[in-house]
Amino acid sequence: MWEYTDKVKDHFFNPRNVGEIENPDGVGEVGSLACGDALKLTFKLDESGRIKDAKFKTFGCASAIATSSVLTEIIKGMTLEEASRVTNKDIAEYLGGLPEQKMHCSVMGREALEAAIENYGGGGTQKHELAGKVVCNCFGVTDKEIERVIIENDLWTVEEVTNYCKAGGGCGGCKGEIEKIIEAIQGDKIKEQREPVRYHGKGLTNIAKIQLIQQTINEQIRPALRAHGGNIELIDVEGSKVIVAFRGMCAQCRLTEFTMKDVVEAKLREFVAEDLFVEEDKDSAAEPHHHRG
Ligand code: FES
Repeated sequence: MWEYTDKVKDHFFNPRNVGEIENPDGVGEVGSLACGDALKLTFKLDESGRIKDAKFKTFGCASAIATSSVLTEIIKGMTLEEASRVTNKDIAEYLGGLPEQKMHCSVMGREALEAAIENYGGGGTQKHELAGKVVCNCFGVTDKEIERVIIENDLWTVEEVTNYCKAGGGCGGCKGEIEKIIEAIQGDKIKEQREPVRYHGKGLTNIAKIQLIQQTINEQIRPALRAHGGNIELIDVEGSKVIVAFRGMCAQCRLTEFTMKDVVEAKLREFVAEDLFVEEDKDSAAEPHHHRG
């Protein structure tokens, strides 16, 4: 059972303004029965250009009925300019909130309102056209609509997008594309969220940098070297130069150089600062020995 607020229940059990206005000034129809819900909104203006009456017909769940009902109440008395600024968030808030999985009903309400305003602007002949290119074929949702719900509701995951506009909720074939749209919009913010906090060289004091280098060596590098019978010691840090000594392994062979460049440097750059480079402290290096045979 969904958790509904009293306001949602009230509008579901006693929906206001059900039906269709005769000779309306604007008609908006969105959704389709095939997709599980559809909404038709009609309105009439008074002489001063304010919405005098609004009615709806919907085929949908309790939330679809409640959002449509509340929407007709919200817009009554508004000018079309005011009505065009109503967002799906306003509708959900007016109801005291909606279950996340039902937010798409509020989006459908906003779309129907927009379609009706467009229809009025086009002299009553305009049919609502989907703007953009269809990304989700299962529910006929375009990239523009997906972008819009992401921006207006600050969405971060495909699951959230599905809750708000259904895209991705069918076969799932469009999820990759939805992911890309989220990334394009949330951009750097999303990277910050996903990646663990990393220190960056610039803001670090010398002491903090050295500690971080030590920590990275202890946690990220030493275990890998130990697995190959070796060890590493931090000797000094001079600016971006990290001086280390390798112990208990062949310090001269090419394999060590390979390890140094590719493992140690890469790890330090990843975890501490991108400008770091590693040098081996020859003096304290292990006694050179030679491979036999
Ligand atoms: S194409 Fe989007 S869920 Fe199937």
